[in-house]
Amino acid sequence: MTKSSTDLPSVKTSLIEVTDKLSNPPCRIFFKNEYLQPSGSFKLRGIGYMLEQKIKEAKKLNKSKVIVFSSSGGNAGLAAAYAAKYYNVECTVVLPTVSTQLTINKLNELGANVIVHGDHWGEADEYLREIVMKSIDEKNDYPVYCHPFDDDLIWKGHSKIVTEIIEENQLPNLDNVKGIVCSAGGGGMYNGLVEGLKSLKENDIPILVMETLQAPTFHETIEQNKLITLKSLKTLASSLGSPYLSSKAFENYKSHPTYLGLIDDLDALKGTIDLYDKFDILTEPACGASISTVFDKKDLLIKNFKNLKKDDIIIIIVCGGSSANEGTLDFYRKLIKDQ
Ligand SMILES: Cc1ncc(COP(=O)(O)O)c(C=O)c1O
Repeated sequence: MTKSSTDLPSVKTSLIEVTDKLSNPPCRIFFKNEYLQPSGSFKLRGIGYMLEQKIKEAKKLNKSKVIVFSSSGGNAGLAAAYAAKYYNVECTVVLPTVSTQLTINKLNELGANVIVHGDHWGEADEYLREIVMKSIDEKNDYPVYCHPFDDDLIWKGHSKIVTEIIEENQLPNLDNVKGIVCSAGGGGMYNGLVEGLKSLKENDIPILVMETLQAPTFHETIEQNKLITLKSLKTLASSLGSPYLSSKAFENYKSHPTYLGLIDDLDALKGTIDLYDKFDILTEPACGASISTVFDKKDLLIKNFKNLKKDDIIIIIVCGGSSANEGTLDFYRKLIKDQ
């Protein structure tokens, strides 16, 4: 791992036009390739930026040791462990007993300390905050708790996904961009995109937020017009399985043009398979949910972004995700076939 000139663990990602590779797209389609982040997903943008800022804070406070804490066995945990390794600081991840050995191995390979505790994420997270984080040396240690999506530094880090398009001249301007498509769990990526668009004074570019019927957190929040906690969450798009939405996403929804797209889990799996078969890009169903809008769920682009012309541009955030492999894809293929 080498430090880039920006001194962030995340990397700049490509913006690639894929229009010619798609069948009958409603307009020009570009992929913003966040799956290329070294931890496997966009999560490294926000968590990497947050850690960079916290390390600066710790220096100012004369704290000699920064320790990263996470309770995510998913892409946020991997991003936290990767970022900690990049900055050469300690990382402890508490995972519930249901976690797989594969997840534990991946985190160990990145140098993280893994503690297994609790029957589910809530218990692991509580143990992390109430026991593990309280056992630090208060004089010298500087603990950094990495929430998977709910922190303004994380949104700031994610906002680069959009601002980089202009900073790196990936497009001369966003004049023809008629929409951006992203997936949502707790809404962290969405918040980052809104922040990025705001900073470019592009407050009119709408965002289509994709979720599955089995994890409809954003939809339910808007439907009930208040922050809610979903009681049951059983989704194959596991990285979208957040029981609650960040309050910032609820706020952003009210001020930024946003459409919500709801598809079945199986459609998200199909998006993942199509992306792999046609582009050789391996991601999770969390990403497949957004990708489905350029394949079987194209009607969502047409319906929401209205009056699309051939020269208009839609950007799909290919957010990535590390839990898929060829074995899981075979399993998804079977589920789709048997439906
Ligand atoms: C690959 C992937 N896509 C999308 C999401 C949803 O992100 P957010 O929780 O910021 O809405 C996640 C969250 O873990 C993820 O891992």
